[in-house]
Amino acid sequence: MDELLKVENITRRFGGLTAVNDVSFSVNRGDIVGLIGPNGAGKTTLFNLVMGLTIPNSGKVSLDGQAITGKKPNFIARQGMTKTFQNVALFPEMTVLNNVLVGGLLRLSIPEARELAQKSLARVGLSDIAEKMAGSLSFPERARVELARALCTGPKLLLLDEVMAALNEAEMDAILALIKSLRDNEGLTFIVIEHHMRAIMTQCNRIIVLNFGQKIAEGAPVDVANNPAVIEAYLGKSLETEAEQS
Ligand SMILES: Nc1ncnc2c1ncn2[C@@H]1O[C@H](COP(=O)(O)OP(=O)(O)OP(=O)(O)O)[C@@H](O)[C@H]1O
Ligand SMILES: [Mg+2]
Repeated sequence: MDELLKVENITRRFGGLTAVNDVSFSVNRGDIVGLIGPNGAGKTTLFNLVMGLTIPNSGKVSLDGQAITGKKPNFIARQGMTKTFQNVALFPEMTVLNNVLVGGLLRLSIPEARELAQKSLARVGLSDIAEKMAGSLSFPERARVELARALCTGPKLLLLDEVMAALNEAEMDAILALIKSLRDNEGLTFIVIEHHMRAIMTQCNRIIVLNFGQKIAEGAPVDVANNPAVIEAYLGKSLETEAEQS
């Protein structure tokens, strides 16, 4: 096993609420891990803890064998981890290219970032709309631009927080196919938060389930989907029903 990310017993409290409670897991290079759980389960907080955007009360994080607990987000980004932001729009009055270029500015000059932004847009199939205003894009195009912006940081590991939330099933499958091709062709690793069960269950090789801040299940999609604690967390609905309703 080639372990890329290791999270050990991480906990974060907000006042009396334990948003993430003693969570441990590992991600291997080349994994596409689905992180699921009901609203408020702690998924985004877990991403923020891993990225150094939120300080843990306790626990450890290491990336590629290096301890990164308590390090600043920009340091962690330079070590090869990047995160998209749930519900944060692109800059609508900026071109697609400039939205993506922003991702590279942390460690590159503007000309270098522009070159990498162009390459990143090519990798997600959007070279032809590089000069369009981001505000005029369709939802599937926006999802691809977010992915390109993350790629422009030069990551090994990408944390994607609901980048496909506005997409229909076919559009989501297209983005997931793109994620798989980035994994297969470039050796990238992904953790993907999404609420759409069927897409997650069919495209990820491993699933981690959070509920009320705790990890309640982890494993192959088929095992997780049939896990009684997971079905219970989704209010007794079968995961198939959940997928049909969303
Ligand atoms: N900065 C904060 N201050 C106080 N409480 C917070 C903060 N951030 C998150 N929480 C709380 O922590 C819990 C977990 O929130 P989080 O956003 O991580 O959930 P989530 O699983 O990403 O949910 P969703 O599916 O709705 O995005 C929630 O009860 C939330 O209200
Ligand atoms: Mg969230």
